[in-house]
Amino acid sequence: MRSLLVVFALIVLVITAPTMAAQKVELSIDVSKTGAKIDRNIFGQFAEHLGHGIYEGIWVGSDSKIPNTRGIRNDVVGALKAIKVPNVRWPGGCFADEYHWRKGIGPQRSVTLNPNWGGVTEANTFGTHEFMDFIDQIGAEAYVSVNVGSGTPQEAAEWLEYMTTAAPTTLVKERATNGHPAPYKVALLGIGNESWDCGGNMTPDYYVSQMKIYSRFVRNFNPAQQDKQQMLKIAVGPGGDGPRWTDWTETVMKAYQQHTWSWDINGLSMHNYTVGHWPPSYASVGFGETEYSQILKSTLEMEGLISKHSAIMDKYDPDKKVALIVDEWGGWYAPLPGSNPGFLVQQNSLRDAILAALNLNIFARHADRVRGANIAQMINVLQAMIITDKEKMVLTPTYYVFKMYVPFQDATFIPVTFDTGWYTHGAVAIPRLDAIAAKDANGKLWLEITNLDPNEPVEVEAGLAGIIAKSASGETLTAPKVDSVNTFDAANTVMPKPISAKIQGGKLTLKLEPKSVTVVSVEQ
Ligand code: AHR
Repeated sequence: MRSLLVVFALIVLVITAPTMAAQKVELSIDVSKTGAKIDRNIFGQFAEHLGHGIYEGIWVGSDSKIPNTRGIRNDVVGALKAIKVPNVRWPGGCFADEYHWRKGIGPQRSVTLNPNWGGVTEANTFGTHEFMDFIDQIGAEAYVSVNVGSGTPQEAAEWLEYMTTAAPTTLVKERATNGHPAPYKVALLGIGNESWDCGGNMTPDYYVSQMKIYSRFVRNFNPAQQDKQQMLKIAVGPGGDGPRWTDWTETVMKAYQQHTWSWDINGLSMHNYTVGHWPPSYASVGFGETEYSQILKSTLEMEGLISKHSAIMDKYDPDKKVALIVDEWGGWYAPLPGSNPGFLVQQNSLRDAILAALNLNIFARHADRVRGANIAQMINVLQAMIITDKEKMVLTPTYYVFKMYVPFQDATFIPVTFDTGWYTHGAVAIPRLDAIAAKDANGKLWLEITNLDPNEPVEVEAGLAGIIAKSASGETLTAPKVDSVNTFDAANTVMPKPISAKIQGGKLTLKLEPKSVTVVSVEQ
């Protein structure tokens, strides 16, 4: 009986073999047709006082046996330096609208509560100075969200004075006493977080009146940030695409259009998680093709959301002075069994790597308006770059995507045209392929191609106009299963490996493995 089954299986294999052949897709890239700069800030990260995102993930304290520099773990710093994190958004999230900065400075820290996340206490041992030290160690800039929900404009204004002033005020003397005489730089300022919900449940009009006050009084005094490198003020923006959210964007942008000399904003935030359905119940590991395809379909909704809110912004800001900053995005799944549900602990699989690439490509295609984004969250929370457990650390598939995309930071977008065909599974039909291209500061061409199809390889032939291509090389990220993950015991399951790419007759050819993210550079 068994041998009969084997013969039957072989016959099925032979019959289906032709359909298993690689799909062929032609891409066309004209290097002379450049678009906007892909702002490196779209590769930003988000680190909230939530679960083990900060405590244990970044901060272990200088007494820890885990190797650290002034309490900040060295392994995490080393890993983050390698992905050139442009900015870190801190201290929240919902936490930011309950954060009182004075509790986190000086030798005596107050122990407070973290009512949003897991009902735990907040030691405040990681405060302003520790955050600034951390971003300095990884080479990133500060994106500080001030407390609009339960704080006051005065509290926020004094925090900015404490951080950024060079003049000998009492607050500056306190900063010096606490170890930092020189002013800190604050590149981005978030005026509240989700003020329509956890940040105070405000109406759009009420928020706008608050936003104007904060914009006016929460100043950056750093002498190095007056003419150049001015701090960008980011207003709270939408969290979805229904009328509630379009109304919010309309209200903020209409106010912006009528702004006077006394206040201004430079960005509008947008939050959009890939959840599938709320509350988050999709598993982050141990799933199959159905959940894979559904989550990827869901994540592609980012495109429509950005287009919709950009169109509203265009009405009030046709010169695109206000950036759209997607400062919370990523996959949000069911908490891992046994974890504190308030800690938002989930695994990070090959599916998340593909999800990350698709979103980064959407941001890049909207580079003229989307000039910042922060994946949620950097360590141990939601779609993390890094997972730690005490002294152990593992890099996630998402981490490797951010590493592969480093050449796209501040590169110039180049349109790619292609007709990919569809990948279908059950009721899901999504494009089989996605791709972006860009030219870096040295004129080198970079191409990213994602094969969403988990079953079929794709043979790519890319026509290259505007350059004389000589050679190409690159890396690809894939793994045996759609839910393959890296663990402490098997840390290298999902890792980039070299891919063979050829230039033939001026065309780039390469074969993409199923469910893969590939980045190739072209030498000329
Ligand atoms: O990232 C987790 C939470 O999601 C943030 O605190 C909040 O802004 C959002 O709702």
